[in-house]
Amino acid sequence: TIKILRTVQQVRQWRRQCLLNGKTVGFIPTMGALHSGHCSLISQSLKDNHHTIVSIFVNPSQFAPHEDLEAYPRTLESDLKILEDFPKGNVVDAVFVPKISEMYPSGITLEVPKQKGAFVTVQGCSEQLEGASRPAFFRGVATVVTKLLNIVTPDQVYFGQKDAQQCVVIKNLVKDLLIDTNVNVLPTLRESNGLALSSRNAYLSDEVRDQSSIIYRALSNGKAFYETSTKKTNQPVKSSDILNEIHHTLESKPDNFNIEYISINHPQSLEELEFVEPGVGAIISTAVRVPKEKEEGEARLIDNVVLS
Ligand code: PAJ
Repeated sequence: TIKILRTVQQVRQWRRQCLLNGKTVGFIPTMGALHSGHCSLISQSLKDNHHTIVSIFVNPSQFAPHEDLEAYPRTLESDLKILEDFPKGNVVDAVFVPKISEMYPSGITLEVPKQKGAFVTVQGCSEQLEGASRPAFFRGVATVVTKLLNIVTPDQVYFGQKDAQQCVVIKNLVKDLLIDTNVNVLPTLRESNGLALSSRNAYLSDEVRDQSSIIYRALSNGKAFYETSTKKTNQPVKSSDILNEIHHTLESKPDNFNIEYISINHPQSLEELEFVEPGVGAIISTAVRVPKEKEEGEARLIDNVVLS
């Protein structure tokens, strides 16, 4: 059976025991509402390591005061069920489900100017793209991931390409703060219509879910355009030409879909690219606001494809 650990001390004790037994530990940080995307990270960790631990913590500091912290799905019972339903002999060892006070001993408020205590910023890759509309988001992510890595000290930690900028932030965090772990980035899992799996898809009606498939279709068409161009000429491709292709597909999007950005960036520096060079590659990423099913307001969907 899976150990449910609620305190930092319990995790440290568990970790120390793994170390004493000479066993490796893989770690998957999550905010719960587990889906197949999370499960693919967990499966990889189960393959790579003797022991696997998952954290489930809806991290307040990565939500702005106006964002969906309250509404964010919390489904611990069914999350534990999902974890227990992994094939026998291949189940995670432990789940870390801390209270907010456990993770923020100095307390936490969502209003940045009123916050007290220690926070982690990763400058240079946190300000653009997602950071532009969510200024304290990656500070919150970097802070909680630092805390979690300090507690778990995993040999391997797993993240999804779905959150491409988050992966860049974390790689830089681990590099610059000399954190002793290996960062693994795994491919995005999608619904059959192409929509990237996300806990926030729970906000969508069936109709909007259906319509949202246009996001990945558009990005894929951009990628196909790039691949056809480079195959023919092996020359750099103009980003504006790729973007035109994407916008062309998005012409048939519903009127109540609002595109926040579509951007082509360097895969490591996230610098915006005028040209995509074969051999360097790029990330094409987008954020689209779509109507929510129940409440007023919109859900933000993000997605990306990698050009290599
Ligand atoms: P959460 O959104 O729960 O995602 C947890 C992990 O699952 C992240 O690494 C994310 O990239 C990955 N993931 C989400 N959807 C995926 C998909 N469709 N395919 C593959 N992987 C997917 O990301 C967070 O939580 C938080 O920011 C966290 C890192 C836990 C810090 O609070």
